Amino acid sequence: MARDAYVNGRYVPHARAAVHVEDRGFQFADGVYEVVCVRQGRLVDEDGHLDRLGYSLRELRIAWPCGRRVLRLIMRGLLQRNGVRDGLIYIQVTRGAAPRDFRFPAAARPTLVMTTRRLTLAANARTGVRVVTIPDIRWKRRDLKTVGLLAQVLGKQEAAERGAFEAWQVDGDGFVTEGTSSNAWILTADGALVTRPAGHDILNGITRQSILKIAAAEGLRFEERPFSLEEAYAAREAFVSSATSFVTPVLRIDDRIIGDGTPGPLGRRLLDAYLAHASGIGAS
Ligand code: PDD
Repeated sequence: MARDAYVNGRYVPHARAAVHVEDRGFQFADGVYEVVCVRQGRLVDEDGHLDRLGYSLRELRIAWPCGRRVLRLIMRGLLQRNGVRDGLIYIQVTRGAAPRDFRFPAAARPTLVMTTRRLTLAANARTGVRVVTIPDIRWKRRDLKTVGLLAQVLGKQEAAERGAFEAWQVDGDGFVTEGTSSNAWILTADGALVTRPAGHDILNGITRQSILKIAAAEGLRFEERPFSLEEAYAAREAFVSSATSFVTPVLRIDDRIIGDGTPGPLGRRLLDAYLAHASGIGAS
């Protein structure tokens, strides 16, 4: 089936979809993005993703490319055209195309691009994955979902070369910030679910927020605080979360086996609850 992309007001064949060479996304990574999971035809946590898109745009002083309602219509239009019921939609907004100058252009219209992919998400969520750790070399506004992802590209490549699914980034004090494209979680030896608090240090994952709501609704003990790499090595369970990995158990961090090296009960429980949430069943 022919696949379309959406570029600045038009649906165009994916193979020929393009933006200008002087687009600021291309030249300066001056743009933001969102990845929204599509499950059984539903856009999971759509409002949360659009809220975060608005936050990233506002903080960078990039205008919305169109109204939020129109954006929703375009998303649905593209999914329908491409026949996507399970997969993802990628949305990117840049400050627009203008002659190269670091300063904001006086009159550029934001560029809006959307693409979709049909795929089975969270393929490893039942079996688990390995992560390795790397220093966090990113800038200090990781709360913004910008397309400036070079540190993450290098990190994910290193993970792949070391036989791992993800790399957990570690700050200068020895605390885990997050994965290159996911949030990091542990279940401590004494039974607390721990993840780093939202702030400038990490991207406040939409999946992360849904898991925290699930944990609260289920009366689980959770703590939003930084955790050290040593604490992670000693954890009973560990997970990554994102729109594309849901809640995926981590069985090994570097050369340390986590728990008994198999997916644990809390991971399974959170995954099941998240899948129910993604299908529109139950709380939040
Ligand atoms: N990544 N942290 C980082 C650095 C991320 O890039 C992502 C998402 C997350 C999880 O956020 P969410 O739960 O909203 O997906 C955390 C997306 C999936 C990506 O870049 O492909």
